[in-house]
Amino acid sequence: MHANMARPHVTLKLATSLDGRIATASGESRWITSPESRAEVQRLRAAAQAVMVGAGTARADDPELLARTEPPPPRQPLRVVLDTGFSLRPHGRLFSALDRAPLLIIGAPDADPKARAALEAAGAQTAVAPRAPAGIDVEAALDRLGADGIAAVLVEGGGVLAASLIAADAADRLEWFRAPVILGGDGRPSVAALALSRLADAPAWRRVALRELGPDLWESYERAS
Ligand SMILES: NC(=O)c1ccc[n+]([C@@H]2O[C@H](COP(=O)([O-])OP(=O)(O)OC[C@H]3O[C@@H](n4cnc5c(N)ncnc54)[C@H](OP(=O)(O)O)[C@@H]3O)[C@@H](O)[C@H]2O)c1
Repeated sequence: MHANMARPHVTLKLATSLDGRIATASGESRWITSPESRAEVQRLRAAAQAVMVGAGTARADDPELLARTEPPPPRQPLRVVLDTGFSLRPHGRLFSALDRAPLLIIGAPDADPKARAALEAAGAQTAVAPRAPAGIDVEAALDRLGADGIAAVLVEGGGVLAASLIAADAADRLEWFRAPVILGGDGRPSVAALALSRLADAPAWRRVALRELGPDLWESYERAS
């Protein structure tokens, strides 16, 4: 349990190869997992009040981050991007979906005010949170969402944001979709470096569910206490 009761419940979704990679070395990630897995991810999105990605994913994938379920959810989740410098370009699919779901971009307090204003002019909401070594202090960003009444956040990567969350012990649950392909060590890792030297320090998880989804496996984990 978090000391701060306002912090939302955080689910980290990973859609990976058997060897835990989320993209090829060139960054191609669509689609590693099966249509059945992707449909489950849409349901997870629909059940969350906010969906969060790092700026790297926003730039590489140009995602909409809408919940495409049938029927659509009564309310689309808030889409959140951690973008330290407010450096996203104010167009692309995150922006063209603004008529269907709000977009919140969280940057650093000392980021360029002109860049922030350009994102706001394009229809995004913006907020600031303190800097941390990887970018934005992920716990402060989550607290900010909690203060806005968000109770459940689905974090969809990429690997750098996943590593910050895990390093901060801020992920409550993992939803891991694993496809029967191998991308190799030059593929992008689902969790970037954690700088662990001792196995005893590795964050440990308890599997709470295991299902088959077409050719894939869907594993759910909660933090081992
Ligand atoms: N298979 C899948 O399910 C899946 C899902 C997502 C992504 N992907 C793939 O993953 C790749 C992108 O992932 P990525 O690891 O390069 O990027 P990422 O984790 O999406 O974004 C990392 C960037 O986010 C910003 N950031 C701000 N605060 C941060 C914090 N506290 N921790 C971490 N990052 C923070 C930083 O950029 P600034 O300094 O600019 O703010 C950082 O470089 C793409 O190839 C994409 O296709 C695959």
